[in-house]
Amino acid sequence: MIQFNSSRVDVQAIGDEHGLDLDKEYANYAPQMAKIIENLYQSKDTAGQWTKWLNLGYDSKLAESINDYAQSIKGKFDDLVILGIGGSSLGGYALLKALRHPQWNQFASAEKRGGYPRFHFIENVDSDQIAGLIDNLDFKRSLVIIISKSGSTAEPMSAFMLFKKLLDEQLGAENTKNHVLAITDKEKGILRPLAEKEGYMTFEVPDDVGGRFSIFSAVGLVPAALCGVDILELQRGVQELDTILKNPDIHKNPAAQHALIQYRLYEKGKHISAFMPYSNALSSVSDWYVQLWAESLGKRHDLDGKEICVGPTALRAVGATDQHSQIQLFNHGPNDKIITFVEVESPERSLSIPNAFPELDSLSYLADKSFHRLLNAEFEGTRASLTANQRPSTTFTLPKVDAYHFAQLLYFLEVQTAIAGGLFHIDPFDQPGVEDGKKYAKALMGDPTLAHLVDEIKNPGKNTPIKA
Ligand code: PA5
Repeated sequence: MIQFNSSRVDVQAIGDEHGLDLDKEYANYAPQMAKIIENLYQSKDTAGQWTKWLNLGYDSKLAESINDYAQSIKGKFDDLVILGIGGSSLGGYALLKALRHPQWNQFASAEKRGGYPRFHFIENVDSDQIAGLIDNLDFKRSLVIIISKSGSTAEPMSAFMLFKKLLDEQLGAENTKNHVLAITDKEKGILRPLAEKEGYMTFEVPDDVGGRFSIFSAVGLVPAALCGVDILELQRGVQELDTILKNPDIHKNPAAQHALIQYRLYEKGKHISAFMPYSNALSSVSDWYVQLWAESLGKRHDLDGKEICVGPTALRAVGATDQHSQIQLFNHGPNDKIITFVEVESPERSLSIPNAFPELDSLSYLADKSFHRLLNAEFEGTRASLTANQRPSTTFTLPKVDAYHFAQLLYFLEVQTAIAGGLFHIDPFDQPGVEDGKKYAKALMGDPTLAHLVDEIKNPGKNTPIKA
């Protein structure tokens, strides 16, 4: 089980001005917190509530159908090209980066990957990146996975239009369908009818599950299973943690505690929430966290329609690398941040620093120690320096980076985000600000239904709030 520690937020560690009296805070918020958690968990079976992600870890049928599919295509493909953006991409990438070999895509033979394919995520519509991938792709041995809940997002759909044409050209149109998998809503959007018409294999993004909460749906599980990750272990991790996170008593619920800490420190002016794993494998979890936290909590209106413009700014960091960059700011800059650390107790592989220069006294402190010991000392040293500078921090501890603990970390953060939404009194499951930008971009690309916005875009002085 992952562990969570908040002692370095307490007034006893960093003083009254910047810390929180946690015992008092938990007692004060216990009744409100109980309501938030009960409402959240009750809503997971109610149609129209965007909390169905709470059920995903228990969906054994989904895991079975994905594993069956993975088994049926094993050995057929050397490359997966995964087209998606935001919540349809960040979780899957963070997962594969964490749970596959760091050189997975670079291995010369598929044998070294256990016969599983390489993975390539195309998020951005950057023609250099896309063309670069195409230069190195054998379409006969590639599977294109298009992931879009709405089935209409410009970035993945435009990339898919290109890959469809290339597959048709290279394999013959009648063979394209064997090289495409679509993951989308069961009925809404353009992609579902398109997939049916073209005969693509499909999986669903379930009803009422938003992109950034979809990692334990087919969105994350399919790429994971196709690359040999044990998705039942992911589900086991979620299920076992869930027994703790659904407890309405804040004293026994660490996700509720962390949500409250983040919320109360925001109220005390700590408007920046940094996420800093001391692990390269977990470095992309920081990107996933940034999206989850920012898109869920950055809101203009509260649940009563009042304009409040709230939301912590999420920041990505990775240790020890960022000790030589952002830590100067974290330690001595404005005291407006809370840092969430992730430490890993045991690395997958242990490596020692040899005593290569016995004549150099100045390097002897490193000799014959493990790299992990050094990384850990860097982490503990950085955390202690933040505490000494009265900067609040919390820590997750993972015994190791495996499917079980990885799933627990991400699920914890999802539940924490939903609870924080309750404290901020906003809807953490919508993203009207994202839709604003999408609409303008579509107008500029010539969508005739949005032509009326073009004038507004070209003449910023005349802007008025966007209407549907
Ligand atoms: O979290 C979200 O809801 C967004 O980041 C979406 O995942 C993103 O905009 C992509 O949307 P779609 O899956 O509909 O293409």
